[in-house]
Amino acid sequence: MTEPLKLGLAGLGTVGGGVLRLLAERSPDLSKRIGRPIEIVAVSALNRHKNRDIDISGFRFVADPVELARDPGIDAFVELIGGEEGVAKEAVEAALRAGKHVVTANKALLAHHGPALAALAEKHGVALNFEGAVAGGIPVVKTIRESLQGNTIARVYGILNGTCNYILTLMLTEGRSFADVLKDAQAQGYAEADPTFDIGGFDTAHKLALLTSLAFGTRTSFESVYVEGIENITPADIEAADDLGYRIKLLGVASRTESGIEQRVHPTMVPKHTAIASVDGVSNCVAIDGDFVGDIMLIGPGAGAGPTASSVASDLIDIARGHILPPFGTKAKDLKPYKKAEMRGHEGGYYIRLSVYDRTGAFAAIASRMAEQGISLESIVQRRPPAELPGFRRQKAGSPAAVVMITHQTTEAAIRKALAAIERDGHVDAKPQMIRIEKL
Ligand code: HSE
Repeated sequence: MTEPLKLGLAGLGTVGGGVLRLLAERSPDLSKRIGRPIEIVAVSALNRHKNRDIDISGFRFVADPVELARDPGIDAFVELIGGEEGVAKEAVEAALRAGKHVVTANKALLAHHGPALAALAEKHGVALNFEGAVAGGIPVVKTIRESLQGNTIARVYGILNGTCNYILTLMLTEGRSFADVLKDAQAQGYAEADPTFDIGGFDTAHKLALLTSLAFGTRTSFESVYVEGIENITPADIEAADDLGYRIKLLGVASRTESGIEQRVHPTMVPKHTAIASVDGVSNCVAIDGDFVGDIMLIGPGAGAGPTASSVASDLIDIARGHILPPFGTKAKDLKPYKKAEMRGHEGGYYIRLSVYDRTGAFAAIASRMAEQGISLESIVQRRPPAELPGFRRQKAGSPAAVVMITHQTTEAAIRKALAAIERDGHVDAKPQMIRIEKL
């Protein structure tokens, strides 16, 4: 086949610009490798006349992305608009119904509507590829959908949001507060002006929902993801974790349990010596535990024009070669219903930081509340506040002091009950901090 694969590209932001540049620079090489050219024939963007690094005057401009999606002159529609509803969804549906292949980096759209869109793609015999939607340039969708098909996967997890990883890294290396580093991340252009999706964990949750479906052959279930962001992580936690031999990372974790599939996004303590602990800055990583392959990990850039364009290009090359697979690796009609494992049944170790009034009996009361729930403590340390360090004035007796505990394996339900009782007893002056420890 030497006919070009003709593209309509909607969305000329950071990623769209990257795709234009990659195709402009690599077209001759790609043509040779694939045996046919990949050509952009038309583009669509919110603002046609915006100043861009790349000249779009050579492409036909179609103002309405939905119109572009069903344009008779294109074979494949590249959706880089974003958003779970609205024009992105309308355009993708229109393209699939018109028998056009679709490539998208839209994790929100697929996390919410993935199985329905996959069914539509399969009905019309076209591809719905989304390598750029999960962890930017890391080729994890193809890795799970193709290379690991011979495995039963027990767990897939990773650092899936560069903004959060950047913030947590700077909090550690520069000893700065969350709010301070967030401003820095916004100024650098990593975090959005409204950073809620990143720091609140929802961007990670979208990506995790897609990984879950790929890894376990289940329908996507974004609503079932337990989500906590990094807003409440303090320098005191970062420092205590460091002293105890851990790093704090925002992880997305999906695992098979006896009661179903657990999907959770939350700040997590990982031992310092592990590979994931050393994934710093805006980098992402995805780890997969398979039964035949063992444990593997992919590390790389999780966002940005170049890395995401690399993933979009790989999806386009597959289409140009006629390599079309069910979007989630399993036919849409055969994706299993998602069976949710409740968070209260989650098992693991926990880090607890309490602000405890320094008075007789406080420790004993706390220890007995933990014992009531059958929770065994691995360590308990009263951390000296700066006012008690040499050279500082001694703190007033009875004022609160930080107490940090690490528990042995227990359940989420037990921890929550114990912490509620500790709060009720009145020995603490603030809500307890709790961070889950991941077994690696
Ligand atoms: N905002 C995301 C991040 C990149 O910070 O990793 C796009 O998903």
